[in-house]
Amino acid sequence: MDIRFLAQSAVELVDGDTRILMDPFLTGNPKATVAAEELEPTHILLTHGHADHYGDTVEIAKRTGAPVVALVEIANELSELGVETVHDPNLGGTVAFDWGWVKLVPAWHSSTTPNGTVSPAAGMLVMVGETLIYHLGDTALFSDLKLIAQRGNHVNVALVPIGGHYTIDRFDAVTACEFVGADEVIPIHYDTFPAIETDAQAFKSDVENATETKVVVLAPGETHTVR
Ligand code: NI
Ligand code: MN
Repeated sequence: MDIRFLAQSAVELVDGDTRILMDPFLTGNPKATVAAEELEPTHILLTHGHADHYGDTVEIAKRTGAPVVALVEIANELSELGVETVHDPNLGGTVAFDWGWVKLVPAWHSSTTPNGTVSPAAGMLVMVGETLIYHLGDTALFSDLKLIAQRGNHVNVALVPIGGHYTIDRFDAVTACEFVGADEVIPIHYDTFPAIETDAQAFKSDVENATETKVVVLAPGETHTVR
């Protein structure tokens, strides 16, 4: 499976014909290397409603017909805006697909869409075939991040925000990595704007000194092949 980092929290998970696009903030994203119009996802997943995640969801979903998984309040908004297929779980819920499943887990953060819809914020466990991806969304540090591993979910790749200010910074993110215990971590949500500039290489050495986890730092547009 390939993970393409598109900048900020936007990634594309590609496994054969399945292309899962998460948090597709491309238009107005100063670090994006692809335009929204160039993407042809089969599925779209949204962790929460903030503009730097919600991004081009409506345009891409309408153009491609890709179903969108989002928290119930956001899913209802997307339906009203004309997105044809939405899945509307709440925290704790799992949505199954022929390629795997998506489970919404807590993230400590706020969420309002650009249109004003308020909801909680989520992290997402995404099982694609045999590979488990954990997109932490935007979050503060909280001890229940440990529950993923405690419940027996071995995370292959965690996507962890490190930019600070709106989320955990690179220091709290090291503790988050200890809690999650993933094989690999890809840092996200940094360097897009001045407020969230940080040192991803320093984060990498801190995590690799403290844990068995390998950190893969991707420039926007770069792809990492899992296993
Ligand atoms: Ni946010
Ligand atoms: Mn954000």
